[in-house]
Amino acid sequence: MSDSKPLQFAYWVPNVSGGLVISQIEQRTRWDAEYNRELAKIAEKAGFDYALTQIRFTAGYGADNQHESVTFSQDLLSHTSKLKVIAALLPGPWNPVLAAKQIATISHLYGPRIAVNIVSGWFRGEFKAIGEPWLDHEERYLRSEEFIRCLKGIWRESSFTFAGDFYRFRDYALKPKPLSPLPEIFQGGSSRAARDMAARVSDWYFTNGNTPEGVRQQVEDIQAKAATNGHRVQIGLNGFVIARDTEQEAQAVLQEIIAKANPDAVKGFQHEVKNAGSASPEGEGNWAKSSLEDLVQYNDGFKTNLIGTPQQIAERIIALKREGVDLLLLAFLHFHEDVEFFGREVIPLVRELERQESRVSA
Ligand SMILES: Cc1cc2nc3c(=O)[nH]c(=O)nc-3n(C[C@H](O)[C@H](O)[C@H](O)COP(=O)(O)O)c2cc1C
Repeated sequence: MSDSKPLQFAYWVPNVSGGLVISQIEQRTRWDAEYNRELAKIAEKAGFDYALTQIRFTAGYGADNQHESVTFSQDLLSHTSKLKVIAALLPGPWNPVLAAKQIATISHLYGPRIAVNIVSGWFRGEFKAIGEPWLDHEERYLRSEEFIRCLKGIWRESSFTFAGDFYRFRDYALKPKPLSPLPEIFQGGSSRAARDMAARVSDWYFTNGNTPEGVRQQVEDIQAKAATNGHRVQIGLNGFVIARDTEQEAQAVLQEIIAKANPDAVKGFQHEVKNAGSASPEGEGNWAKSSLEDLVQYNDGFKTNLIGTPQQIAERIIALKREGVDLLLLAFLHFHEDVEFFGREVIPLVRELERQESRVSA
């Protein structure tokens, strides 16, 4: 176990259309505000700690409509009381001073429940469509790291000065500062550049779905590097949940999702993500090892294998926690009903297994 802290749960906010799988299977998930407000309340009651909004500026592979992440996150905060909401920010369209100020104000409006996820970009067509220069892979991460250093500096220092390749500040004083505790900084990505950035500056590292062995390698790598930097990173892993009363039922749903996948859209997505990662020299990016079936879920969520009965899923979650996972970021087919079911049937089993583990290790 990484430590005795209870594992945290987050869910993907469906603020873009088409759900979280590229498939024609029936999805009762909707992307509108009303559906999402209700979902946030269900998730909070079900025991979820965080909601993660997505940022997309253009359609692609199913996401025909996309609500903006910061505004949407703010709305979810206004309809909940405990849930923390993580707003995705893409350096380029956002610069650090605007982001720092927006997030500081939101923390005053709703209390310190707002966090940020710094994403580095994978969709070249999106950058082209909005006139944003497409930096190569390593440069995208250099910019993201400067972005994070600026956010932290602006939030913490009474007078902030920074001279980077992408951003410059001179004696800048943000007032008011965000409420304490300061907003947590998450980041997405699995490549060498993404891991090294996490080991230097991020509070949380979000990675694509993976097996316990695959996660272990990443955790060991990141935590060893972070330790040499005097830093501690928490690990969030993506997973797609299909929890049903029997394993056969759950597997049948997975097979239906894959059978009804839209092959052209999945191949288009595959082309785009490989292209985005191809400049990452070591070839270990988010989608470097994804099969066509894996890509039916945008972030390799089937690989995490949270597909089966509540008991099977809870046991697999504990196995992931033993490998150093601090948080599971979860997607579902029918969010309202599946999140409610997960909270009722799976989370209590996880908590019971955590209690047993802590008794054994005490
Ligand atoms: C959990 C998670 C959430 C992400 N959310 C977004 C998002 O909302 N918008 C976006 O453009 N990219 C998003 N990304 C993409 C990453 O920021 C990054 O650009 C991509 O994973 C490439 O990673 P790589 O460097 O490992 O190839 C997300 C990635 C992960 C793992």
